[in-house]
Amino acid sequence: MLLALGPVLLALSPLPSEAAEKVAFARQGLVVCEHPQAADIGADVLRQGGNAVDAAVAVGFALAVLFPQAGNVGGGGFLVVYRPGAGADALDFRERAPARATPDMYLDPAGNVVPGLSTQGYRAVGVPGTPAGLFEAHRRFGRLPWSRLLRPAIELATRGFETDTNLYLALRRERDRLRNDPEFARTFFDGTEPKRRIVQPELARTLQTIAARGAQGFYTGWVAEAIETAMRRHGGLITRQDLAEYRPVWRKPVEFSVGDATVFSMPLPSAGGWMLKFLFHVLENLRTPDVGWHSALHVNLVVEAEKQAYAERAQHMGDPDSVPFPSFLDTPTYFRAMARRIRPYQVRPAEAVRPTLGPLPEESPETTHYSVLDAQGTAVAVTYTLNDLFGAGVIVPGTGILLNNEMDDFSLKPGVPNLYGLTGGAANAVGPRKRMLSSMTPTVVVRDGQVLGVLGSPGGATIVTTVYQVLENLLVFRMEPFPALTAPRFHHQWTPDEIRYEPTAFSGDTLRILQGMGYRLQVVPALGRVQMVWRWQDGYLGLSDPRSPGGAAGWR
Ligand code: DON
Repeated sequence: MLLALGPVLLALSPLPSEAAEKVAFARQGLVVCEHPQAADIGADVLRQGGNAVDAAVAVGFALAVLFPQAGNVGGGGFLVVYRPGAGADALDFRERAPARATPDMYLDPAGNVVPGLSTQGYRAVGVPGTPAGLFEAHRRFGRLPWSRLLRPAIELATRGFETDTNLYLALRRERDRLRNDPEFARTFFDGTEPKRRIVQPELARTLQTIAARGAQGFYTGWVAEAIETAMRRHGGLITRQDLAEYRPVWRKPVEFSVGDATVFSMPLPSAGGWMLKFLFHVLENLRTPDVGWHSALHVNLVVEAEKQAYAERAQHMGDPDSVPFPSFLDTPTYFRAMARRIRPYQVRPAEAVRPTLGPLPEESPETTHYSVLDAQGTAVAVTYTLNDLFGAGVIVPGTGILLNNEMDDFSLKPGVPNLYGLTGGAANAVGPRKRMLSSMTPTVVVRDGQVLGVLGSPGGATIVTTVYQVLENLLVFRMEPFPALTAPRFHHQWTPDEIRYEPTAFSGDTLRILQGMGYRLQVVPALGRVQMVWRWQDGYLGLSDPRSPGGAAGWR
């Protein structure tokens, strides 16, 4: 079923698809993700009586086959599930550092970061969390048999599928890096050109083993042995013991209110949920009714709050199991104090924005996301990743598994920016078995106990500000879901000290005012690719961001 919302958008979706579309309306369940066949696979699970968690598991494995840019079994991520009457839970299946990891493992003898070591090849890899995470979500909440949920992915890996526009362009972009790995070259390229049809028999065999043996099929046995052998041969650190010891962790979601809506999002080791809460709470203290959407004042207030949020992230945040989250960063006093540091029309240079070092005196004080909703009103938000497009650019021989380069999300050396320009310090230093800090922000919004929306995005450091702006558009500016999702966005992350913005984000006079205030501005093609479900009329809309040409919504 298609709404007359946007012929332009439909034209942006060049991919063949049985059913899924950029925009869908449904009352019985929706799946929105970055590949139409995966959306159909998820919708099919819902039609066969599976719940939102079942669909999320099936989509997770399907994307590992169809969307190898970010879909994965060799990566990790986060899942937020909300069940009406039972509340929200957050599952952390983030990768973690191998036991032999050390703080200086990416530095040369002079103490400088060795370029590429944390992003390319086996040393860049964190112990994968995805198979364990999906298995645990299913163990706790799933309804259909586990092996049924892997079947479509196994079939696609065995039979192959047509390379879609997204994958073709991504493979071309990364080909010099990827073709260095013989397994990558063989699986995805004909000479220098991406293959038109991708068949992954080794991956099918790995998936079959996981289907038969559960997560153990990945973390023990021949798959674990193959990973260890490849690691040993290529300078990686992960052992069979690292794999056998990996566990996903249920955590308490970050929860806060915006008006009469309640937002549930991911806690540490993602900074995403806290940062989202920070932005809403600080801006709530600053906003006046005359702050018009994308006016210079609006941009100014949001950007100054963003600078502070990223400064706190860099100072304080890391794996909560080794670096506890400072509780003073989560009090009304603190949020009010941060709001007071921001003055309308004043610009604080990044050097002048400092992280908060202790409690404030009392008063004063190629990631991908998918969203699922089922007929019972249960929502699942999953953001999972290999980190960079195609991760570390290596495939474990004999297994078809693409490995992540998530180790780059650690702070390799204080003050040295990672792939996304983010800096950090001791809290997020590399350490044995530590989980690296993330920005991924899978989020569920609830009103009166019922799901209002499910959303999230890829985009590295820009994920939080992307999710924030879509929610601000919906909850504060009261936009309709479709314009709220497509509206142009902007972003500031403290360092570098610049506002990045999409080409049409600001009017000419707003741009001039912002420049006159002293902001450095940098236009970028796109910020984030949101995959969202949002309540609309007597049902829900599934909306796939036009910034992701191949994304689609499937429905029951
Ligand atoms: O966990 C994180 O924050 C990053 N590894 C996410 C990477 C990402 O979003 C890349 N996609 N564009």
